[in-house]
Amino acid sequence: MISKSSWHPLLLTLLLTTVEMKKFKVLITNPNVPRVAYDLLTQACDVVTNQGYGRNYTLENIKGVDALFCDSQAKVDKELLDVAGSQLKVIGTMSAGYNHIDLNELKSRDIKLGNTPVVLDEAVADVAMMLAMAASRRLTEGRRHIEQNTWPSDWDPQWMLGQDIAGSTIGIIGLGNIGQSIAKRLKGFDVAKILYTGHREKPEGKALGAEFVNLDTLNKNSDFIFVAAPLTNETNQMCNSDFFAKMKKTGVFINISRGQLVDQEALISALKNGEIFAAGLDVMTPEPLPADSELLKLSNVVLTPHIGSATLNTRNEMARLTAQNILRGLGGEEMFTPVKL
Ligand code: DGY
Repeated sequence: MISKSSWHPLLLTLLLTTVEMKKFKVLITNPNVPRVAYDLLTQACDVVTNQGYGRNYTLENIKGVDALFCDSQAKVDKELLDVAGSQLKVIGTMSAGYNHIDLNELKSRDIKLGNTPVVLDEAVADVAMMLAMAASRRLTEGRRHIEQNTWPSDWDPQWMLGQDIAGSTIGIIGLGNIGQSIAKRLKGFDVAKILYTGHREKPEGKALGAEFVNLDTLNKNSDFIFVAAPLTNETNQMCNSDFFAKMKKTGVFINISRGQLVDQEALISALKNGEIFAAGLDVMTPEPLPADSELLKLSNVVLTPHIGSATLNTRNEMARLTAQNILRGLGGEEMFTPVKL
């Protein structure tokens, strides 16, 4: 049996660090968070997990915690932070987007924030491609024909014609990590040209052979438009009736970012009036989308329920990264993926 006097100094330091960390209390807002996050955090902290979904659980449990593990469903605002108390200094959100968090409040309270970029890029880009293929080839409409027995028995060479991705001009709004992953996939589809817009020209754009243009040029020239920019005050409702009116009538519109970048009513009328060909949306407003939404009635829309990052592997990596960011933040180290406040 090992006696205390024989403890190796390194072991002692490790134990003391653990004892030291024990005093930190972490709240996990989602009761169904991947196990890896829970396991990592409980090694060093006291962990409380909400027993159900929704803000009320968080409001009940957040008082006195040192760190918060949340996701894009958890609005982090003044009210929540006031209830938490001034000891809350670290937040990890298991999402790339952080539009649900009031950054000014965090800044004024000196709270560190980490998110989960990069680890979800490929999964989200896959969904973007899935939507582009499905929308351009009229998946919803085709399926309805089968279900409603309206698939004509005579072969009609004009029936169910879609749009080609090969040879098309692509417009990407926001060539960040996800936008770049979409562009990489599209190159394999032999597109003619990739245009992108954003705050500035990027070296990554050059490496991908993509051309930096203004929104108007992208809007008018693209056959497919992918929205991959984050939701900010600047991008809020940026795809409005004006935007859709400028798109090609054969244009396909894809959104894998946030529903609020789009004026949804304007999109619905553009789809109804044939101003654009089709849309593929992984995000919409509100979420969950009510079952009686007009969007569901349209056959030139393909919808998925915000599943961009929803693969087992990606969600595990997001959970791991969020826990690691929190541990590093609590330990006074730079997070792996900090959000600049
Ligand atoms: C993200 O990580 O931002 C995804 O959209 C999930 O919210």
